Formats: sequence, structure tokens, C-alpha cells
Amino acid sequence: MPKVVFIERNGNRKEVTAASNVTLLQVAHANGIDMEGACEGSMACSTCHVIVADEWFAKLPAAHATEEDMLDLTYGVARTSRLGCQIVLTDALDGLTVRLPSATRNMMD
Ligand code: FES
Repeated sequence: MPKVVFIERNGNRKEVTAASNVTLLQVAHANGIDMEGACEGSMACSTCHVIVADEWFAKLPAAHATEEDMLDLTYGVARTSRLGCQIVLTDALDGLTVRLPSATRNMMD
């Protein structure tokens, strides 16, 4: 089962174990990580925004065009930004490290 490291908004590092084939958003919710996910994965809110550690970014499958479009509108976006609801955990991602941005903007508001 892959481990995931979340760097929380206050800088705390939290390592959790994920089931395979669940999304990063689901892992966050299962472990009390402050990731909202207001649209529950339909790429309509951007409140699941994470900044992926450089060394992991290239290992993720490329973002769908819809995800790219949503990230273009996301507050505080970085070069390695992704939507947590679109990252599916596999054993190949064991050790994935992501940082929660300082703030998110709910595009559905
Ligand atoms: S949960 Fe809304 S875009 Fe990911």
C-alpha cells in the first residue's frame, strides 16, 4: 500500500498509508487532512489543489485538459500544481509527497 506524505498548511509533515486506486482527495479525507474537495472530484472547485514535490511531479500521469483549465484559475498555482481529486494512488507512487497551498479558492462560490 502506498505511503503519502502531506505537508500541511502549518508546515507539519504527516505520513499516511493509502489504499491503492483511491484518489489523493479520498486519502486526505480518510486521514483528517484539511483538503476540502467541495465538488467531490468533478473538477469544478479547485479546493483540492496540491503542490506536488518536484521529484514526484514527473511520475504522475499527465493532467487532463479539463484539470489544466481548472488549475489555470486556481489561487496560488505553482509549476507542479495538481488537483488532488485527479491523482489516483498506485504502488508506483509509494512515497508521494504533496504540499497543501496556503489557501484555496472555491470556484463554485
Ligand atoms: S474536488 Fe473539486 S476540483 Fe477536485
